Amino acid sequence: MKKLLAVALSLMLVLTSAAALADTLTMVTNASFPPYEFIGDNGEVTGIDAEIAAAIAAKLGYDLKIVDMEFDSLIPAVTSGKADFTMAGMTVTPEREQLVAFSDSYATGVQVIIVGEDSPITSADDLFVKDAGHTVGVQMATTGFIYASDEEADGKCVVSAYPNGNEAVMALANGKIDCVIIDSEPAKAYVAVTPGLKILETAYTVEDYAAAFAKNSELVASFNAAMAELIEDGTIPAIIAKYIPSEE
Ligand code: ARG
Repeated sequence: MKKLLAVALSLMLVLTSAAALADTLTMVTNASFPPYEFIGDNGEVTGIDAEIAAAIAAKLGYDLKIVDMEFDSLIPAVTSGKADFTMAGMTVTPEREQLVAFSDSYATGVQVIIVGEDSPITSADDLFVKDAGHTVGVQMATTGFIYASDEEADGKCVVSAYPNGNEAVMALANGKIDCVIIDSEPAKAYVAVTPGLKILETAYTVEDYAAAFAKNSELVASFNAAMAELIEDGTIPAIIAKYIPSEE
């Protein structure tokens, strides 16, 4: 009798975990990147990436679970199989392409420079001056971090890396650093809620955002197909326009 119970119990476990595997896609992100991902009023991860991912998952017949973590843990979570994919306003770069398979791109981002309202820095040329010692805040492991680190290697700035964009912007607002380099939409969102800051007109680089999967993932093709349909039928443009009203 006991044995039967044990068999029944383990069978139930196997069945429920198989169901969990088949029906739920796990997406990892770093929810400090409004309007792409941030913690909404209900305490849940929300934003453009969360909504696009939910629409794609629904179209493919999956539930979606979103897990918030540090930005530099996202690619390891995907390559180790802990997550099915990441969407995090993540820029496609050749270095990352060595590690993961990117989906088609669904948005572009521009790196911008945020400074204090009265800053003497008015352009990237003012900022990156040899031995001037300007301090640049960035989010760890982001493309902004990589660009600033390249300039630092030439002695043209000093990089301060923060766990997330919000902390970098707070350090700038508190006068601890001279500027922040970050993607333009989060920059606008942060500046809108932080008095005394402005975004410099000099746009720095244009980048493509895409979802990232393990290299051996069988999901990329169907994800791309669902995404193409949801762009075509207006679902994804409507999600983006809801958060970025000018980009209809
Ligand atoms: N686009 C930049 C990159 O890929 C920054 C992305 C940061 N995303 C985030 N969810 N914190 O490096």
